[in-house]
Amino acid sequence: MDQQNKRVVLVTGATGGLGTAMCEDLHKNGYRVVANYRNKEKADKWKAEMDAKGISVSLFAGDVSNYESVGKMVTAIEAEIGPIDVLVNNAGITRDTAFRKMTYDQWRDVLSSNLDSVFNCTRHVINGMIDRNWGRIINISSVNGQRGQFGQANYSAAKAGMHGFTKTLAMEVARKGVTVNTISPGYIGTDMVMAVKEEIRNQIVEQIPLGRLGGTEEVAHLVCFLASDKASFITGANYSINGGQHVY
Ligand code: CAA
Repeated sequence: MDQQNKRVVLVTGATGGLGTAMCEDLHKNGYRVVANYRNKEKADKWKAEMDAKGISVSLFAGDVSNYESVGKMVTAIEAEIGPIDVLVNNAGITRDTAFRKMTYDQWRDVLSSNLDSVFNCTRHVINGMIDRNWGRIINISSVNGQRGQFGQANYSAAKAGMHGFTKTLAMEVARKGVTVNTISPGYIGTDMVMAVKEEIRNQIVEQIPLGRLGGTEEVAHLVCFLASDKASFITGANYSINGGQHVY
């Protein structure tokens, strides 16, 4: 398939652990991959590593927590690459601290990067998807949005908010060929998880029936499946991928 006929996927926060694995797998599955980033120095280094692995990605800067910034980024992507067919709302941060010590900024930073971002990015691509009668929105939530975690009142609230968003938007666009789903990864071997104090992390791994952290590629495979035509009857769903840590 030549570049023109490939579906275009935008992965936000692409240079992180999960984002990298998604870009690799999506590229291997024939998508034209657009990688959003905020830190240019990190992104340039990351792009060189992807090039060396033979993974073709186009970098676009944008602060997903800022509505205008996302609007400019989407306009630039559409002009240079083409309409966005698949959006993976993957960008996210942590500011872990017990709630009694949590500052307003720690609350706002996490809510704006992890939940406002979902509005900002989806709002800028949804009408194009509706017009073309095909689209995929994939929201990356967390096991800690399903069950809570000490020190993550901000993160859990944002990640839980994605579920309500997914379910409602799925209903609104189902007849327009657009599906909207959430993936809730558990503890995956990313820098974000490795930043948790070793002692606490080891306690967490002990709670995982599979006895290990997840692999980033395991989440990426699920993203590729939900992005594909094979998943066209799946919408408004949440997929847990947590090694059995939270079952219900
Ligand atoms: N459960 C129960 N009690 C806890 C606790 C826990 N997990 N952590 C701390 N406490 C208790 C302490 O024992 C202590 O009790 P006393 O006051 O009675 O002595 C009190 O709380 C200390 O509170 P502090 O605020 O001082 O806690 P701390 O600074 O030691 O640790 C924390 C706070 C940094 C948030 C720590 O709890 C922590 O790292 N938690 C894990 C956070 C986590 O899992 N983050 C995931 C990041 S990765 C990610 O988010 C990806 C994803 O989607 C899964």
